[in-house]
Amino acid sequence: MACGTRYAVAFSSGTAALHGACFAAGVSDGQEVIVPPITFAATANSVRYCGAWPVFADVDDSTVTLDPWAVGRAITPRTKAIMAVDFAGHPCRMHEFKQLADRHGLILIEDAAHALGATYDGRRVGQLADMTTFSFHPVKVLTTGEGGMVVTDRKDLYQRLQLFRNHGITRDPWLLRTSNPAPWFYEQQELGYNYRLTDIQAALGLSQLERLSHFIARRRAIAARYQASLSDLGGIRLPAEREWAGSAWHLFVVRLNLPLLRKTRRDVFEELRARGIGVQVHYIPVYAHPYYQRFQRYQRCFTTCPRAERFYAESISLPLFPKMADEDIERVIGVVREVMHEASRDRD
Ligand SMILES: Cc1ncc(COP(=O)(O)O)c(C=O)c1O
Repeated sequence: MACGTRYAVAFSSGTAALHGACFAAGVSDGQEVIVPPITFAATANSVRYCGAWPVFADVDDSTVTLDPWAVGRAITPRTKAIMAVDFAGHPCRMHEFKQLADRHGLILIEDAAHALGATYDGRRVGQLADMTTFSFHPVKVLTTGEGGMVVTDRKDLYQRLQLFRNHGITRDPWLLRTSNPAPWFYEQQELGYNYRLTDIQAALGLSQLERLSHFIARRRAIAARYQASLSDLGGIRLPAEREWAGSAWHLFVVRLNLPLLRKTRRDVFEELRARGIGVQVHYIPVYAHPYYQRFQRYQRCFTTCPRAERFYAESISLPLFPKMADEDIERVIGVVREVMHEASRDRD
């Protein structure tokens, strides 16, 4: 097993895995789950699927993962869980979250959609939270076309995850509530979904799993090459890898020094795209989307999450995927350097 946990339940997507984790955690109507704003919408949406409210706590400036201090301040009597996201493949500060979760009786869920193969204090991601979720979407570290997984060491959570993935139905004689069940008997005990991963996808996942260490090594080599050849540029700040972390480098997000460049992020983005570099922005803070702005409680997030706002305003993701050839990497570096130099020439 890639994570070294006792149990793993495959799902049809990373989103379904998050939904399953919320269900297994007992997240329900009116409760709250603390999430970061810099993530894909699915993290927060899975909380809404259960009728609960995501509460956005600000991120820490160096790793862009949840800030434990902000999480501590966001806990209320309605809080049921903390859902921390390993943004860009960099693990978040799990020891602090574990302490908070233990102190307040909360379930700790780690959304590691970006971080399969990452390490935290030398341990593989997946071993610290009550449940850790992964995504096997095509752009992720490992793919099954679409797919996801929840890993856990807790048998009770494992059983609830299995139930949820299959319409809430069980055939397990130890779990049936009917005594002396007939051999064909099964029970629907909860309202679950069809969130199963197909056998064909599972076979693809197993063959991909054999290459996991190769994928991670290649991602780490590309990140190291970017770090070595872009670190002298004053116009950008490179992503950090903390001493306790081994990032899976799902994304390589640079931050622009916009006052120094005297350009907008959009200018830089469009110049890079015009020169054939497939840059992206990860992510628009989730609370800023019209769906969330519909609720008054999310209107204040623009001021309660200043570090997320700043990060969003100045970040651009450079291409990073294992199949990039060395020439592709050098081309990205060359174009980024050109655009940064032109910006400083225009300024002088
Ligand atoms: C942080 C995060 N969580 C969850 C998901 C959802 O995964 P999936 O696309 O497999 O449903 C994604 C997908 O991009 C993600 O980036």
